[in-house]
Amino acid sequence: MRKELPPSCRIQVADPCKALDCPAIYDLSRPLEIEVGCGKGRFLTSRAAKNPDCEFLGIERMLSRVQSFDGKVRRAGLKNAHILRLEALYTFWYLLPLHHARTVYVFFPDPWPKKKHHSHRLFGPLFLNALWQRLEIGGTLQFSTDHEEYFHTVEECFEADEAERKAKGLAPRYKRVEPMVRGEEEWTEFETLFRGQGLPIFSAAWTALDVDDPPLEPMKVAPEDEPREGIERRNSKGKEWREEHAED
Ligand SMILES: C[S@@+](CC[C@H](N)C(=O)[O-])C[C@H]1O[C@@H](n2cnc3c(N)ncnc32)[C@H](O)[C@@H]1O
Repeated sequence: MRKELPPSCRIQVADPCKALDCPAIYDLSRPLEIEVGCGKGRFLTSRAAKNPDCEFLGIERMLSRVQSFDGKVRRAGLKNAHILRLEALYTFWYLLPLHHARTVYVFFPDPWPKKKHHSHRLFGPLFLNALWQRLEIGGTLQFSTDHEEYFHTVEECFEADEAERKAKGLAPRYKRVEPMVRGEEEWTEFETLFRGQGLPIFSAAWTALDVDDPPLEPMKVAPEDEPREGIERRNSKGKEWREEHAED
């Protein structure tokens, strides 16, 4: 007889502009680690298995990868790993609790190498705003990529954040720290491929500092001008939701 699998670890979201009901999903008294663009979950499920006292949340917009992640978690019987199929910027802006993530991982994000596509990149002032609000004070962003130009662009984003704050008389909100070193069991799917090809990998990390920033306001952009394409987003009337590339 086939063994019955535990229920899906996918978090259903009715409104991507409304905060998640976190206590119903995971134990808020335990540390939370989040991976943005977690793909099929090689890294996060490995960490979740090794750290049963922490909670792990993957954010991934591609349906087939969400399904693979869910399958891995269920087959391994992990109770501390969850996944949201949603655009990461929305998730950070609207859904996550204030200063609650101990670590945010962004590994091998899409580099969008063509200049005309740079606006699709995750890193920019909006993401840095939302990231600071969600990281614990002293919590860390861990970033790795195989794309050298994007790596330097991300470094420049953090430098620009600090320079802009300085010009306004504000203290810095991020401090660069040494990135973590991960063993092979914690390589992501793409990383395994890139390392197998002998490609260089660029890594960096930043810690959130204690500054007195105000909470985020709702994004002041028309739905059709949203900063990047999301799977689930407002329709042109700004009320309902539609799914794009549902069967990607
Ligand atoms: C290049 S893949 C890397 C996947 C995984 N991190 C790895 O290293 O194997 C980038 C992943 O991020 C997801 N992704 C890209 N932009 C995203 C966004 N804004 N929100 C959520 N997921 C995103 C893509 O669907 C894809 O699975």
